[in-house]
Amino acid sequence: MASTFLILSLCLPALVLADHPRIPLISRWLTHARRASSRNVPANGYYTPMEAGGSMLTKVPETFPEGLGEPINIILTGYSDEEVLNDNEDKGGLQNFFLSFGFSGECLGQHSGSNQGANLGDGHGYLNETAVMRWNYGDPALGSCKETIMGGNHFRYWVQNGPSGNSGAVFMAASYEMPIAQQHDIIVNGYNFGRDWVIGNMTNVTVPTHNLTNQTTYSTQTTWAGYTYASEIQYVSGLLSNSSEGINHMYSVGPNWTNAIDGLVAVITTKMVARPANSAIWGPSSPSIRASALALSIAFYSLL
Ligand SMILES: *[C@@H]1O[C@H](CO)[C@@H](O)[C@H](O)[C@H]1NC(C)=O
Ligand SMILES: *[C@@H]1O[C@H](CO)[C@@H](O)[C@H](O)[C@H]1NC(C)=O
Ligand SMILES: *[C@@H]1O[C@H](CO)[C@@H](O)[C@H](O)[C@H]1NC(C)=O
Ligand SMILES: *[C@@H]1O[C@H](CO)[C@@H](O)[C@H](O)[C@H]1NC(C)=O
Ligand SMILES: *[C@@H]1O[C@H](CO)[C@@H](O)[C@H](O)[C@H]1NC(C)=O
Ligand SMILES: *[C@@H]1O[C@H](CO)[C@@H](O)[C@H](O)[C@H]1NC(C)=O
Ligand SMILES: *[C@@H]1O[C@H](CO)[C@@H](O)[C@H](O)[C@H]1NC(C)=O
Repeated sequence: MASTFLILSLCLPALVLADHPRIPLISRWLTHARRASSRNVPANGYYTPMEAGGSMLTKVPETFPEGLGEPINIILTGYSDEEVLNDNEDKGGLQNFFLSFGFSGECLGQHSGSNQGANLGDGHGYLNETAVMRWNYGDPALGSCKETIMGGNHFRYWVQNGPSGNSGAVFMAASYEMPIAQQHDIIVNGYNFGRDWVIGNMTNVTVPTHNLTNQTTYSTQTTWAGYTYASEIQYVSGLLSNSSEGINHMYSVGPNWTNAIDGLVAVITTKMVARPANSAIWGPSSPSIRASALALSIAFYSLL
């Protein structure tokens, strides 16, 4: 150990001093090696939560009757590119992908609304959502504030990355809510519409909610900040039931005794097909990011 450290310390100056993409390259490679070895993507691109004690319904606190949930109705599969699944905004990751179809983080970074739990059957048990994304009305900076007040489309998401099921897939629960003045209830058909307006925003096609089948597919490309994403979308049945069973707000969402949800989940696989011209494929581009990558690499090495 001591001798490894010595050798590394001897190598370090040579690696560090040259202003050279080598260090970012090494840190990137280390990150990649660690992730690639731990992520394990099954045939569908995600583990079915119910096969390991999980659920495709979230747990909403304080419902009446108790124990109701909201449907997880969109999955971004683990076959998507690592660069897309990484939860960052500055390197074309998940947050930038969400922006490419009009969804921003919460208003001024303030969390509003209650947390919901989801158990994705990955060994983590129930966890609160990672974050809530809101349709930004075309204004990426402040539009999610408008959504918070006026209502609109939004989704919570969770990542399936637990110790017994690390597919890296992102599970999203989309719904279209009423204005804050109406306590953010869900509009009629608001789970199906929430899902389909997300897909509609990705494809620029009006998704025929009432005529969807488990064979419906779309291909689309979206772009934000110079990163372009190609997405393949398929609606699948069998993960959720076509019913109102256990669904929060079931009487208002599925009126006149119709089902609150149609049981379909939109399954998306996304690849990054273009990057900004000035972004080196092998490392962060701006000098300050490069400096922090350098500092991180040094910190990392000194821990070895
Ligand atoms: C989820 O959030 C609630 C507050 O909304 C908190 O009480 C609870 O401990 C959180 N659960 C987990 C597993 O973090
Ligand atoms: C995009 O999202 C908005 C808000 O949810 C919705 O009104 C609109 O219909 C969506 N566009 C398409 C093509 O689905
Ligand atoms: C749905 O299908 C019916 C007939 O099956 C058709 O009349 C209607 O136009 C379709 N609606 C949409 C939105 O595609
Ligand atoms: C679609 O649903 C039908 C009937 O519910 C089922 O027989 C079929 O296997 C499903 N197809 C797919 C691709 O899931
Ligand atoms: C959808 O339409 C908007 C506005 O016309 C446009 O900015 C966007 O690039 C289009 N997206 C796709 C995927 O075609
Ligand atoms: C429910 O049924 C009533 C009476 O038939 C009708 O007026 C109303 O529009 C229906 N609601 C919806 C959302 O379909
Ligand atoms: C869901 O069930 C209703 C009737 O209960 C049926 O009309 C509808 O076609 C079903 N939807 C899907 C997507 O299977």
